[in-house]
Amino acid sequence: MKRTRIFLSVFCLWLSLAATAGPVSNLLPKPLKVQEGQGEFVFPAKTTIGYADESLQQAADYLSSMLHAVTGEIYPTVEGQGTITLSLFRAMQTDGYRLQIGRSSITIQGESYQGVINGVQTLRQLWPEIPVVDIEDAPRYAWRGLMLDVSRHFFDKEEVMEFLDLMACYKLNKFHWHLTDDQGWRVEIKQYPELTNKGAWRKLNNQDRICLNRAREEDNADLLLQADKCRVENGDTIYGGFYTQDDIREVVAYARLRGIDIIPEIDMPGHMLAAVENYQGISCFDQTGWGQTFSSPVCPGKDSALEFCRNVLGEIAALFPYEYVHVGGDEVEKTNWKKCPDCQKRMKELGLQTEEQLQAWFIGEMERFLLSKGKKMIGWDEIIEGGLSETATISWWRSWSADAPAVATAHGNEVIFCPNAQFYLDYAQDRNSVPAIYNYEPNLPELSARQRSLIKGVQGNIWCEQIPSRDRLYYMAAPRMLAIAELGWSDPAQKDYADFEWRMVAQFDRLQAKDINYWIPELQGFHKMNAFLGTARVTVSSLDPSVQIRYTTDGTRPTLQSRRLEGELQLSETTDVTFRVFRANGKPAEIYTARFVSDSFAPAKKVAPRRKGLKNVWHEFPGIDCNLIQTTPVNATFTTPGVEIPAKAKGNIGLIITGFLQVPADDIYTFRLTSDDG
Ligand code: ACM
Ligand code: ZN
Repeated sequence: MKRTRIFLSVFCLWLSLAATAGPVSNLLPKPLKVQEGQGEFVFPAKTTIGYADESLQQAADYLSSMLHAVTGEIYPTVEGQGTITLSLFRAMQTDGYRLQIGRSSITIQGESYQGVINGVQTLRQLWPEIPVVDIEDAPRYAWRGLMLDVSRHFFDKEEVMEFLDLMACYKLNKFHWHLTDDQGWRVEIKQYPELTNKGAWRKLNNQDRICLNRAREEDNADLLLQADKCRVENGDTIYGGFYTQDDIREVVAYARLRGIDIIPEIDMPGHMLAAVENYQGISCFDQTGWGQTFSSPVCPGKDSALEFCRNVLGEIAALFPYEYVHVGGDEVEKTNWKKCPDCQKRMKELGLQTEEQLQAWFIGEMERFLLSKGKKMIGWDEIIEGGLSETATISWWRSWSADAPAVATAHGNEVIFCPNAQFYLDYAQDRNSVPAIYNYEPNLPELSARQRSLIKGVQGNIWCEQIPSRDRLYYMAAPRMLAIAELGWSDPAQKDYADFEWRMVAQFDRLQAKDINYWIPELQGFHKMNAFLGTARVTVSSLDPSVQIRYTTDGTRPTLQSRRLEGELQLSETTDVTFRVFRANGKPAEIYTARFVSDSFAPAKKVAPRRKGLKNVWHEFPGIDCNLIQTTPVNATFTTPGVEIPAKAKGNIGLIITGFLQVPADDIYTFRLTSDDG
C-alpha cells in the first residue's frame, strides 16, 4: 500500500493569498464579475444618498443608517442623484446588481429592490476601505435560506432581527420561521388565545435537561437556559415566550427592508401538541401526548379540527406578506388515525385506502385554503407521500428519501434543497461540515435540465432542541451559513474551496465586531493519538489568527491562566495534553484532548499471505453498532483489492475486512477512522 501523508500545503497557500487579499477578494459570497480599478472612494464633505426611483427610498434610508452606525455621520437621502445613487435597471438577471465605485461617486443599479439591497450588502462588506471597482453580480438561486426553530427554544424579536441582519450581510434572502411545534406555540393567534397563554409556556422538559447537563459536562455556559425566557411559578421554573402580532409585523418590516422574505411555518397535522393540548376537538381522542415516536396529531376526520387549522392559517396569511406559507407535514404518527372513528369515516367517504392518503387530503385542504387567500404552500417532503398536488413546493429534508427531488420535479413541483446530511446546522460541525455544504451540488445527475430548473435553491435548517441561547445559535450557524450563502449565490464554475475558506476566515473580524460567537475551525497539527520517537515537536495552529491556544498536561481543563502555546510544544515522554481555544474576547471555546506516546518502532513481521487483496466478509447486518457485525449470519465472502463495499453486497451490509498492510519503510504512520453517517 502507498504511504499516506496527511500534511497539507494549506499554510503555503494561505500565506500566498494573504499577500494579495484586499476587501474585493474577501467578498462572500463571491461575485460573478469583478473589475478592479485604481484608488479608493473618498467620502466628500457632504455625502448624500440618492434614489432614482421612489420604491428605493427605504433602501437609501437603510444604507444611510448603516453608514451612520459605523461613522456617526449623517448621510441625507435625496430623490434623484446623490454621491451614492441607487437605481433600478430591469434588464439584468433576477435580483442582480451592478456596483460601480469611483473615486468620488458610487452607483448601485439593481434589477429589483432586492437587487439594489444585494449591491448595498456588497458595499457594506467592502467597508471601511472602498476601492474603485466595477462589480456585476447575480445569484445562482432565487432561494438562499435559513430556517430557525423558535419553538424548542425561544428567540425573541430582537434576537431574530439581529439574526436577519447577519443573513442580509451575506445575501441570504429567505427566513423560514418555524413558529410552532410540540414544545411551544410562538405566534399570537387572536381567535385562539390559549395557544400562547398556555401553549407558549412549559415546565422544563427533557430538551432543557439535556442542555443543562451538557452545559455542565462541557463547561459551556452557552448551553444554559436564558434567564429572560424563564420565570418561576408556584415553585416551578416555566420556560417560554411568544411574538404578538405587532412583534411579527415589526420583524417582517425589518426583514423586508433588508430584502428578506419571511416564510412562516405552522407545522401540521403533527408536531402540534402545543395546540392539541390546549384546545378541544382538534385531536382524535381527548387523551393526547406522545405516541411511539411522535406526538398526537390533529384529527383530519373532524370538521372542527379542519376549521381550527384554517382559522390559524387565515391569521398567518394576513400577517405575513410573502407569497409562501409552510404547513410542515413532517413526521406524523398515524396510529391514532387508524383507531379514530372520525378519521376512518372520512377515509371511507373519500374512498381513501391509506392513512398517507388521508394526510395528503388534509394537506390538500390546507393548500386549497391558502390558495384562496392568495398564498402558495410549502411542505416538508413527506407531503409527496399519498399524492402530491401540482402546485405545492417541497422542502426536501430527508436525505434518506433520496428520490424526493426527482419525484417532485418530475411531477412539476419546485424543490428547496435542505437535505439533513449537509444542511442541518444543529448537527455537529464535523458531521455537516463547512466543506460538505460548500461542495454539495444540487444539480443531481438524475435530474434533467427541466427538473433542475425547478430547484428553487438551498437552505440551512437550525433546530433548537439543543440551542438555548443566542451564543449557541451563532456557534452552530456561523460560519456554516456562509457556505450556504456562497453555494446559493455564486457561480459553480468558479468553485474553489481553498479560496472560499480564505474568504470565510476573513469574515471572522466582522463577526467578532458584531459579537457573533462563531465556531472556530478545528486546531491543526495533531491527532487524537500521536506517536513519536525521542522528542516530539508539536506545532499546533488555528485557521483563525485571533485565537489563543492554552494547554494543560495534568488532565485539567485549560483556563485563561494555563500555559499559552506559542511556537512548538516539546515532549520527551508520553503525555496527555488538553488544548483549549480562547477567543479574542477571552471566552473559552473548544477543548481538544490528545495523547502523545513516546514509542519505538515495532519489529517487522514475517507474514505469508496466501492471496493478494483483502478478505471481505459480508454479514447480514441491519444495525449500526459495528461490534455486533460478527454476531450476524454471513451472506458471502469476497476478495477485494482495498477497503470497499463489494459490488454484489446489497441490502443490509455489515463488512469485516481483514488482511495485511505493507509498510515499506520505518516511519510513523497515521490511521484514521471515519464514518459517513455520524
Ligand atoms: C424535520 O426535520 N422534521 C423537517
Ligand atoms: Zn381522527
